[in-house]
Amino acid sequence: MPAGLLGIEGLERAEIEALLARAKDFQSVQHQPLKRSDALRGKMIVNLFYEASTRTRTSFEIAAKRLGADAVSITASGSSVTKGESLVDTLNTLGAMRPSAIVMRHSASGAPHFLAKHLPTPIINAGDGTHEHPTQALLDARTILDRRGTLEGLRVAIIGDIAHSRVARSDVHLLSKFGVDIVLCGPASLLPPELADLAPGVTLTTSITEAIRNADVIMMLRVQLERQHEAAFPAGEYFRFYGLRLEHMDLAKPEAIVMHPGPINRGRELSSEVADSQSSVILNQVENGVAVRMAVLEKVVG
Ligand code: NCD
Repeated sequence: MPAGLLGIEGLERAEIEALLARAKDFQSVQHQPLKRSDALRGKMIVNLFYEASTRTRTSFEIAAKRLGADAVSITASGSSVTKGESLVDTLNTLGAMRPSAIVMRHSASGAPHFLAKHLPTPIINAGDGTHEHPTQALLDARTILDRRGTLEGLRVAIIGDIAHSRVARSDVHLLSKFGVDIVLCGPASLLPPELADLAPGVTLTTSITEAIRNADVIMMLRVQLERQHEAAFPAGEYFRFYGLRLEHMDLAKPEAIVMHPGPINRGRELSSEVADSQSSVILNQVENGVAVRMAVLEKVVG
């Protein structure tokens, strides 16, 4: 199998540390006037997105360009996928143009793993169904480290639609390798008990106040309506029980930070006062998305 990045679960702690350290080097590059290096000059990165994306797709594209590579983005809705082409045929077609790597997002869990077995091109997973979103976990870890200096011993509450969240799964895999105390919280219908077995150090609760008490990091997740087949509960009711509001912040540690992978839905997962507060690092996460994806592209393609 060509070396791409399919998930966090199979990575060693040292590999994660190396990527996070390299992302730190790239943070400062972003603030320099000459933003392009030619580390990946002559390389071609194809971004193939079968699901909507703003942050992930744009930041992979910017990351590739800052390293001097060429980047082409394709969305399923604007491609021959709408003419009935299968995933394998689309990937073989793109592979025949000899890209250096394919960055791919798909609604089916395991789609990039399947393709990685059949294609010679390295594949970077940009989110597969409800399974993994490895670069999101890396940028989340980078953001926590920037604020707290360490992951070891922190208490991280992940709150929302855990059942359908690839972000939660990748974050749990990453954080558990660093001795983080992880609390997963959401309504019982979105919090399957088997998630407690995902990794060491994970506990579950349906109480948002219990999850937030003494938390160093509060990570809110979007309710993934596109993956839910059962009737959704009304937005107002969800916010009443699971929405993060300013008064919740008194329960957390004084320096606690609020994170969200985006896109945020104000008044559903969190209030505007929290989203725009000093505790919110949501835009720092976006900024780190570029640095982390530069580190990943350099490792995979460089
Ligand atoms: C997440 C995703 O697509 O999994 N978004 C992202 O990449 N920043 C989370 C979400 O869509 O809610």
